[in-house]
Amino acid sequence: MPGTLYAVSDLHVAYAENRKLVDELRPSSPDDWLIVAGDVGETFAHIEDTLRLLRSRFAKVIWAPGNHELWTHPKDPVTLRGVARYERLVAACRELDVLTPEDEYPVWAGEDGPVAVVPLFLLYDYSFRAPGTSTKEESLAYAYRTGVVCTDEQLLHPDPYPDRESWCWDRVARTEQRLAALDPAVSTVLVSHWPLHRHPTEVLWYPEFAQWCGTDRTADWHLRFRAAAAVYGHLHIPRTTWQDGVRFEEVSLGYPREWGKRAQQPVLLKKILSSPGS
Ligand SMILES: [Fe+2]
Ligand SMILES: [Fe+2]
Repeated sequence: MPGTLYAVSDLHVAYAENRKLVDELRPSSPDDWLIVAGDVGETFAHIEDTLRLLRSRFAKVIWAPGNHELWTHPKDPVTLRGVARYERLVAACRELDVLTPEDEYPVWAGEDGPVAVVPLFLLYDYSFRAPGTSTKEESLAYAYRTGVVCTDEQLLHPDPYPDRESWCWDRVARTEQRLAALDPAVSTVLVSHWPLHRHPTEVLWYPEFAQWCGTDRTADWHLRFRAAAAVYGHLHIPRTTWQDGVRFEEVSLGYPREWGKRAQQPVLLKKILSSPGS
């Protein structure tokens, strides 16, 4: 039976309502793959239990970290910070046979040829600035004035980097080299918790939140690296948009207080690509 490449993000399994939806989640074929684009949860126990369950059901699971996995949360007995925490998450995924941004990119046999599925860890650098501001300092000050400040400021530590933007820039530079080395005959599905392009943040109710949502340094990656689709989450605004003819898919579940008030039940499995014959 031909499989489907599905994606989901922002499962936030600390919420029992969300865990129930994850428990009910099933593939449509034994050959289906699942992209998990970050924000599974905050503790190793939640993250590992969820990825283990999903891996038992899907032929391949591909994970990219979200900000919540990178928090050093007071409820998590794992107290690692920054890069050390990320590396421990990667090690945990490898134990579970879940692919990470540190692994070789798996290739999906798509209807129009091979597609590399590329999980990315890039973070953000405050370049999606708040309205009317032109420096990080001004943009952050705007957010502190309005009270819309991402919890990352308290819990997402950049150690050993001096700040989160330095970590972001290093990740962007290294990742760019890997992507540039890919076979140009192969297209990609680019998967990042934070959108690669700024346009999805234009609908944010609080535009000052955009500074925690990505970096201008990846604004042309969907074109440069031949994206068949760009998958992201983080905004908790599930929808499809198009940029330069490339499909951007926000695949989040989000919090029960968000999906609970929508008219439709949440769709956890967003179809990204089919395989020939499906
Ligand atoms: Fe989230
Ligand atoms: Fe997030």
